[in-house]
Amino acid sequence: MSEPWWKSAVVYQIYPRSFADANGDGVGDVAGIRARLDHLAWLGADAIWISPFFPSPMKDFGYDVSDYCGVDPLFGTLDDFDALLRDAHARDIRVLLDWVPNHTSDEHPWFQEARTARSSPRRDWYVWRDGGPERPPNNWRAAFGPPSAWTWEEKTEQWYLHLFLPEQPDLNWENPDVVAAMHDTLRFWLDRGVDGFRMDVVHCIGKDPALPNVPPERERIPTCALIDDPRTHAHLREIRRLIDAYPNDRVMVGEVAMPWIERMATYYGDGDELHLAFNFPHIWAPWQAAAWRRCIDQTTDALAPRDAWPTWVLSNHDNKRHRTRYGSEPRARAAAVALLGLRGTPFLYAGEELGLTDAEIPEHRIVDPGGRDGCRAPIPWDDTPGRGWGPDPWLPWPPANDAASAAAQRDDPGSTLHLYRALLAARRDSPALRLGDMEWLETPDDVLAWTRRHDGDVRAVAVNFAAAEQEVEIPGRWRIERTSDRRREGDAFDGRLDPEQAVLLTRDLP
Ligand code: NOJ
Repeated sequence: MSEPWWKSAVVYQIYPRSFADANGDGVGDVAGIRARLDHLAWLGADAIWISPFFPSPMKDFGYDVSDYCGVDPLFGTLDDFDALLRDAHARDIRVLLDWVPNHTSDEHPWFQEARTARSSPRRDWYVWRDGGPERPPNNWRAAFGPPSAWTWEEKTEQWYLHLFLPEQPDLNWENPDVVAAMHDTLRFWLDRGVDGFRMDVVHCIGKDPALPNVPPERERIPTCALIDDPRTHAHLREIRRLIDAYPNDRVMVGEVAMPWIERMATYYGDGDELHLAFNFPHIWAPWQAAAWRRCIDQTTDALAPRDAWPTWVLSNHDNKRHRTRYGSEPRARAAAVALLGLRGTPFLYAGEELGLTDAEIPEHRIVDPGGRDGCRAPIPWDDTPGRGWGPDPWLPWPPANDAASAAAQRDDPGSTLHLYRALLAARRDSPALRLGDMEWLETPDDVLAWTRRHDGDVRAVAVNFAAAEQEVEIPGRWRIERTSDRRREGDAFDGRLDPEQAVLLTRDLP
């Protein structure tokens, strides 16, 4: 039986505001993505996930959706999207959209109607509770904005729930009409031909209607990281049936944004819930062999019994880029070799292939309520003064953006861009890297090394986390296929690793 495409795919995340600006207004758009598809095809990305481009008041830059079945005029039109989808498919690039099921915008017509009166037919589409204006119904905490996850509506004298901003009221998935309406939004895009969805904080959709307080010792953690209710699994099974009824392996990738890998694993169900779930502990792990090893082992241990397929991610639109977190280019490049050598589906974040660092955002230019602007800086496409953008991009540039531009790096075979391209090509050509088992090798403390095997194809990966040279012993004869530091590529591997170097090794025939 052939494996579904998403197991061997490398998925590339596009944050549309920051990716590419076709109309010169300083904000990226759908036509901009379309115009850069050749960059993605050249890089070798198998799929793109596009963060929300739906109509939105942009309080959370698109994660506050006011119409699930459209394109915000800032980003273009449905026709632009159809053209993007067509052109992506023509290049064998699949397209995943970002579905935001936990909450809508407060400007969504559903909420507008719900908030008019307690008797509104849509009142129960959201989560309302009684109580006095001085005390919210429970101790739940919003992820950003004011601490409480509740906002008092003076007009109807009730509180409504929002795990994020007050402008992002939570939908009530206990109401079957909400379920049906949200299913329809999936069908709308599936019928248009999209290949699947990344599902925003999908572990939060089911909630115990008693809305019990969180224990006092967890009161300060945003409640969205704690919600883990059995009702969600039932919802996911229904959504899975809907998705699987479409041909060609459409995929659901869930954002299960909680720090416990064992809990995250439960959202794969028995192969009947999410196809893939994000695996965040890795994105939070420092540049240390032991920390990486722990995340990888915990993931393997949690997923193996379910036969569930892991995902790996180092950077995204909510966290500092790994190039910034790890503090140096050699580390970021070594991390790329490691990421693309792991067993599971890797997710890259646009600009990671250019080795971009987060932008410094002066106080007067901060726009995100969650303080995440730095990793959302625009992508520098070329070395013209506008870097391929209109005169006034919505956020400041990342540092050194001229040398980091896609055009400059394409001309430099030693660039991070070329490294990523070579690693993606190596993955595509190697069944072991795409689908193989992973087995640890004995190594010194600061080194991780493993083999990958599939149907007679073998690769090994060795990563030196230390700032000093290290020696590793990998049984057998190996040749360096790719290295993070451009040195000795093609040579026989003699067991020596340069400081903070990672190598991808292939069997050397005797
Ligand atoms: C997770 C998304 O990645 C983040 O950007 C957003 O703010 C929250 N969910 C709320 O939708």
